[in-house]
Amino acid sequence: MAGNWKMYKTPAETRAFFEAFRPLVAAAGHCEIVICPPFPDLAVAVDSARGTSIQVGAQNLYWAKEGAFTGEVSGPMIRAAGATHVIVGHSERRQYFGETDETVLKRTVAALDAGLTPIVCVGELLEHREAGRTEAVLCQQCLHGIHGLDERQFAQIVIAYEPVWAIGTGKTATPEIAADAHAVIRREMGNRYGTGAAADIRILYGGSVKPDNVKSLMAQDDIDGVLVGGASLDAKSFATIVNFPS
Ligand code: PGA
Repeated sequence: MAGNWKMYKTPAETRAFFEAFRPLVAAAGHCEIVICPPFPDLAVAVDSARGTSIQVGAQNLYWAKEGAFTGEVSGPMIRAAGATHVIVGHSERRQYFGETDETVLKRTVAALDAGLTPIVCVGELLEHREAGRTEAVLCQQCLHGIHGLDERQFAQIVIAYEPVWAIGTGKTATPEIAADAHAVIRREMGNRYGTGAAADIRILYGGSVKPDNVKSLMAQDDIDGVLVGGASLDAKSFATIVNFPS
């Protein structure tokens, strides 16, 4: 259960979130919990999560280890800050910051090299879905992105399916739509890495996940977890999502 805070919260707000959130998920042994705040909040988040099973991730990384790349942050820097995960290729990065399947692959490899678990995002636009091209687009993103990984690398990633039309819009994919897309992604992964490896990989669903729809999404066989934006900003609502079985 991963929270993507996007460009929200200061270090002080991060500390306050963790103080409220920690006791609410203290008994959650059924899942991994990852919170991905903005870069300036990483240190506070790591500090606030100490002694709990909550893990911390970044939202992006650059593929060089260091160098003259003003404004960028590398995998080793994120790892050194105590984070364990990093989101790669989120649709907002693709849409507003020129991210492509090729750069997603470079960032994914860099994350693995730094000892981070990449949460690699794929998903179709509304125009793709309306044109009946969802499956083709997902396959394309897999082919040019994730499929560049070798078997060992592939086994260490997490995939997030996020239909772009469902992100921040309040329009959740129905559990059936999400499950269909997850099955397409898993089949594509199976073609490249074998059905065993594809069955083992975790595929998260993201896009307007809320406390009241998490149960029906998680009931789908192919949905292994969720990547939550807006509803992860509030400690109570994210804790309700994390604690969905109870
Ligand atoms: P949302 O965002 O839950 O606010 O729709 C999901 C995401 O972009 O990861």
